[in-house]
Amino acid sequence: MRYFGALSLALASGAFSVALLGAPLVAQTAPASSAHTASGLEVSGPQLTLRVDALRDDVVRVRMFPNGHPAEDASWAVLPTARTARVKVTATPEGFQTSKLRVSLGADQKLTVSDLAGNVLQQDVLPVQWTEDGFRVFKQKTEDDHFFGLGDKMGPLDRAGEAFTMWNTDMFGFQESTDPIYKSVPFFLEMHGGRTIGVLFDNTFRTFFDFGRERNDRYVFSAPKGPLDYYVMYGPEPKQVVEDYAWLTGPTPLPPLWSLGFQQSRYSYYPQSMVEDVAAHLRRDKIPTDVLWLDIDFQYKNRPFTVDTTQFPDMKGLLTGLEKNGFKTILITDLHIAHVTDGSYAPYTTGHAADAFVKEKGAEYVGPVWPGPAVFPDFTQAASRKWWGTNFKEFLDDGAAGFWNDMNEPAVFRYPSKTMPDDVEHRIGGNEAQGFSTRTAMHPEIHNVYGMENSRATMEGLLTLRPNLRTFVMTRASYAGGQRYAVTWTGDNSSTWNHLRETTPQLLNLGLSGFAMSGADVGGFAGSPSADLLTKWLMVAAFQPIDRDHSAKGTNLHEPWVDGPEHEAIRKRYIEERYKLMPYLYTTAEEMSRTGLPITRPLFLEFPHATTDNHPLDNDGPGEFMFGPKVLVAFSPSPEEVAPYVVHLPSGLWYDYWTGKSIDRRGPMGAADHEIRDAKSELPPILAQPKLDELPVYVKGGSIVPMAPLVQSTSEKPNGPLTLRIFPPAPGEACDGDVYTDDGLTFNFRKGEFFRQHFTCSVTPEGALTVSLQEAEGRYKPWWTELRLEVVGSKAAAATEGSKSLALESTSLGKAVSLKATNKLRTVVLR
Ligand code: NOJ
Repeated sequence: MRYFGALSLALASGAFSVALLGAPLVAQTAPASSAHTASGLEVSGPQLTLRVDALRDDVVRVRMFPNGHPAEDASWAVLPTARTARVKVTATPEGFQTSKLRVSLGADQKLTVSDLAGNVLQQDVLPVQWTEDGFRVFKQKTEDDHFFGLGDKMGPLDRAGEAFTMWNTDMFGFQESTDPIYKSVPFFLEMHGGRTIGVLFDNTFRTFFDFGRERNDRYVFSAPKGPLDYYVMYGPEPKQVVEDYAWLTGPTPLPPLWSLGFQQSRYSYYPQSMVEDVAAHLRRDKIPTDVLWLDIDFQYKNRPFTVDTTQFPDMKGLLTGLEKNGFKTILITDLHIAHVTDGSYAPYTTGHAADAFVKEKGAEYVGPVWPGPAVFPDFTQAASRKWWGTNFKEFLDDGAAGFWNDMNEPAVFRYPSKTMPDDVEHRIGGNEAQGFSTRTAMHPEIHNVYGMENSRATMEGLLTLRPNLRTFVMTRASYAGGQRYAVTWTGDNSSTWNHLRETTPQLLNLGLSGFAMSGADVGGFAGSPSADLLTKWLMVAAFQPIDRDHSAKGTNLHEPWVDGPEHEAIRKRYIEERYKLMPYLYTTAEEMSRTGLPITRPLFLEFPHATTDNHPLDNDGPGEFMFGPKVLVAFSPSPEEVAPYVVHLPSGLWYDYWTGKSIDRRGPMGAADHEIRDAKSELPPILAQPKLDELPVYVKGGSIVPMAPLVQSTSEKPNGPLTLRIFPPAPGEACDGDVYTDDGLTFNFRKGEFFRQHFTCSVTPEGALTVSLQEAEGRYKPWWTELRLEVVGSKAAAATEGSKSLALESTSLGKAVSLKATNKLRTVVLR
C-alpha cells in the first residue's frame, strides 16, 4: 500500500497553505499553491491537486488528481452543459460559499459541505486514502443517515448498512442479496435530519460503496483506478436533489404513449402464428394491450438483425397486421454480432468493413454468446455507433416500433468472468463534446458504460432514420445518465413472492437514480408463477411505469388468461384501471421528461417530513409507493402472507381510490401513522388484509386526477369525456391537478403541438367546492370534447358555472357534472 499524499488547506497569514501527509500518513510541510478560483478553489500539494467547483448554487463538483491538470475533463454521464457550468462564488477564509452552500477545507484535511445555516451536509472523516492508482473517500455517517438510489441494486429501499459493487453483470437467477447485477448507477441520495443531498461518483471502473457496513460511523466510496470525481447536490428536499441529478445527467425523455400500455412478451413467441394467436386472444378477451415483444427466436440462428423466415415467413405482414389491430411490436436486437466471415451475414460484413468491433491484441475479439462465436461493436467510437444505427432500417421499414438491447453488460458465455477480458481494447473517438480525447481504453474502464453506449447508438440510429419519431429502446445494462437513451427493466428475476416484493424497492431506487421509467418482468422470468402470484403481480404492475409480462423459455405460459376465468377477470380489471388512468399516467410521464421525477416514487419524495424525526416513512411501510404525485399504492410488505398489515399514510385527508370513502388521518394532534405505534395519537391504525382481488390504493385529499373511458389500446380514441376525478381537500387546504396530452408519437410537442391544463379546487368550511379550470396551453386539440367533473364523496345539491346551473348526476363515488370542454379559464361550484 502506498499513500501518496493527502491535502489540507489551512489559513496561514491570510493565505491558504497546504500540508502534504506523506507515506504513511506522516505530516510534513510542503511547498504548496492554493487559490480561490472564480467558481471554487484549487489546492496543490507536491503530488496531488484538489479542485472544487460550484456548477450551480446547489451543485458542486469535487476532483482530486495528480498534480497539474487531468488529461481529460470528461464524462459519459454528465451533460456537457452541466459539466462545464460554473457560478461565481464568494471566497471565505476556509473555502467558499454560494447562495446555498458553504464549502470548507480545514486544517484537519476535512472537506465539509454545509448549508448556510451551518448544518453539515457532508464531511470527510479522514483524508482521501490513495493506494497506487486507487483511492477511498470517507464521509461521516450518523445513525440517522438514510441512503437511496444506486440503480437496480437489490435489497431494502434504504441502503444504510449495506455495501455494493458497481460492475455490470449478467445475473440470471439473482436473489435478494446478489450484487452486482446488471447496472452501475453510482448515484445516491443521503438523507438526514430532514435534509437531503445527492452524490454522483462519476468513475466508470469497478467502484465500491459502503454505507456503514464496515463501520457504522462512516460511508465510503472507492475505486481501484480512474478519476476521483464526484458531484454533490443539495435539496434540502429530496425532490430537488432528483431534479438536480436530472439537470446533471438529463431526464428520461417523453416516451411514446403506447409504451405506457400493457405489454405482453415471452422468450419466445414463435412461430409467427403463435404471435398472431396471442394478439387475437388478447383482443378476444378484451385485455387492453399496446405492445407485443419478439425475443431472440424470431432470428435466424440467433443472429441479430436477421429473421428466421421458416418461423416468420412474413415479418412485414405480421408487424403491419398487428399495427392495424392496435399493437406495436418491439424486437430484440442484441449487440453480439455473429462472427460469420463468409460474407453471408451483412451485419458482420458491414461492421467488419467499418472496423466497428472491439479488439484484443489487434484482432477482433471473438466470444461466445447466443449466436455462438460473436464480435462486439465498439460503442465508445462514434463511427461504430453510426454503423450500428444503420442496421435498424429494415426493421423500421417493416413496422417495428421499438427495440430491446439485451445482454449488453456485455454478457459473454465465458466463465467465471461472464464478460470480455480486461485486455479488450475500446477506441474512444468522436466524443469530444463529452470531453473525451481520441484514445484507446482497456475494458475495465469501459465495461460499465458499454451497455449505455449500446443503447445510445440504438437511439441515435433510430433518430437518424426517423427524426421526428420518439424512440423506445429498452436496455438491460447501463450507467448513470443512461436514462437519456433507453428505459430499463430489472433483468432475469424469478417467479417468487420475494421477487414480487422486491420489485417495489428496486423500481423505486431505479426511479431515484434517473431511470424514472422502468419495469420488472411481470410474473417473474425464471420459474413458473402460481396463479395467485401471477394475479397479484399483474395487479401491482398496473401501477408501475412499465407493465410488461415476460417469461423464460421452458416455463409455463403466463399470459393473463392461463389460470382460468376467475384469475383472468381480476387481472383484466387491473389492466383496465391502468388504461382508465392513462391521462394521469401520461401527464406524470410528461412531468418526468421535464424534471426527471420518477413515475413511481417512494413516499418520502412527496412527503419528506411525514415523520416527526424526518426518517423516511417508506421504512415503516415497505410495500407502499406513490404512483405519480397523487396516488398511493399500499401493496403488502409480504404479499404471500394473509395476515393484516399496517398502512402508513402521511398525515392529512385521504380517500380510498376504489370506494371513494374518505380517511381522515389529520388526527387530534396532526399525528401520522408512525406515531400511532408510539401511542401518541388516538387515531386507530389502518389495517389492510386484502383478498386476492384487492389492492389498497389511496388518493391524497386535494387531488384532481384525469381519467379516460376504457380503450383496448392507446391507438384507439377514447369514446366519451375526460373525467376529472376530484378528491376534495380539507377546508382551506390546497388542491390541484393537471392534464397533458399530445399526439403521443412525435416531437411536434416541442413546436407547441401539445395541450396542458392546470386545475385547482377549494372547499369552504360549509362544504362548498369550487373547481377552477385554468386556461389551457398549447395548440394541440385533445381527444375529448366533453369534461366530466366527478367529485368524490360529494353530497352537493346544486352545481353552477357562473349564473348557469348544471345538471348533477349521482355516481358510485359522489356527484358529477358534465360540461363542454374549452381552453378557457372557468369556475364550477358545487354546493
Ligand atoms: C436475457 C434477458 O434478460 C431475457 O429477458 C431474455 O428473454 C433472454 N435474454 C433471451 O433473449
